[in-house]
Amino acid sequence: MNHISINTPKKDLLWQNLGFEYIRTDFRFVAQFKDGKWSEGGLIESENMEIHEGSPAIHYAQQCFEGLKAQTAKDGRILLFRPRLNSERMNQTAKRLLMPEVPKDLFMRGVFETVRANQPWIPPYGTGASLYIRPLLIGIGENLGLRPAKRYEFRVFVSPVGPYYKGSGLSVISLAVTDIDRAAPLGTGNVKAGSNYAGGLLATRKAQELGANEALYLDAKTRVYLDEAGSANILLAMKGNRFVTPQSEAILPSVTRKSIMILADKELGMKTEERPVNLLKEIDEFEEVAACGTAAVLSPVGKIWVNDRWYPFYGNGVKVGPVMQKLYDLLTQIQKGERPDNFGWTVSV
Ligand SMILES: Cc1ncc(COP(=O)(O)O)c(C=O)c1O
Repeated sequence: MNHISINTPKKDLLWQNLGFEYIRTDFRFVAQFKDGKWSEGGLIESENMEIHEGSPAIHYAQQCFEGLKAQTAKDGRILLFRPRLNSERMNQTAKRLLMPEVPKDLFMRGVFETVRANQPWIPPYGTGASLYIRPLLIGIGENLGLRPAKRYEFRVFVSPVGPYYKGSGLSVISLAVTDIDRAAPLGTGNVKAGSNYAGGLLATRKAQELGANEALYLDAKTRVYLDEAGSANILLAMKGNRFVTPQSEAILPSVTRKSIMILADKELGMKTEERPVNLLKEIDEFEEVAACGTAAVLSPVGKIWVNDRWYPFYGNGVKVGPVMQKLYDLLTQIQKGERPDNFGWTVSV
């Protein structure tokens, strides 16, 4: 389908002012799974879906999603960041929820075609904005009892976005430890099921009432160890040149975190560890804290609310520390093609 030429002019948006909101773009990719096989799939224009009222996705949350970004590089290329990891994670989620896997080729074609077809909506280089890509997989079709759907839709849509947290590219955020549990140890916390998020809306609201940006979850079993934030993993620069991230069977394995751990090790020469982190026992050792994810990128955390008080970190909780600044720069420079991609992480669309 030849919807667009590479020279189509950009949309007239105030790219620098974009927040993290849905903006309708021209095309989305849709494929359907029926009678044991996937359709070819292709681009469509309508952002509305008509699905059966009995669809398991809307009753029993048999659905999942992914999130990744495309960026315009300095030389004009459009770069994706480690998209195959999103394909693999979607299939891990699909398996856990008894949904059919989306073949890697179909996933990649869906992402590539949607990005290419919406070229006028891809934020230009240097604006601080990017194109957020949202693949989703949902169980559809007539159903009543609790059982897997017989049919599925895989869809990819995109939206130009700015920073997830209000403020500039690298603004300091705060988190509040919540008394709500996000995920059970043997539940679905380690996959990207939509059902993990509805239960967290209340935790986020309560955190925001305390003046924090987001909720910070402890492990549901002991409520002693750090799990993650509502939509981001946690990173800790600890005393003694150590760089630590919480290990837990109930958190989403973040593509961003996996990459930053490598940068901390290989580029900053820090001693990296993925291990359980006892929050109250270790909090005095935290020099710098950050939340990370596709949407959050790397967001320094200035302070955390625990047991009715704030614990500030670097620069009394208002400044970005040197370790997180360096890691943010390294990651975003690779993502925007501003430094050599020594790890082979970017894919040109
Ligand atoms: C609960 C949760 N944790 C962590 C992340 C970060 O993962 P990634 O870096 O793969 O975007 C996300 C966002 O995708 C998330 O929703």
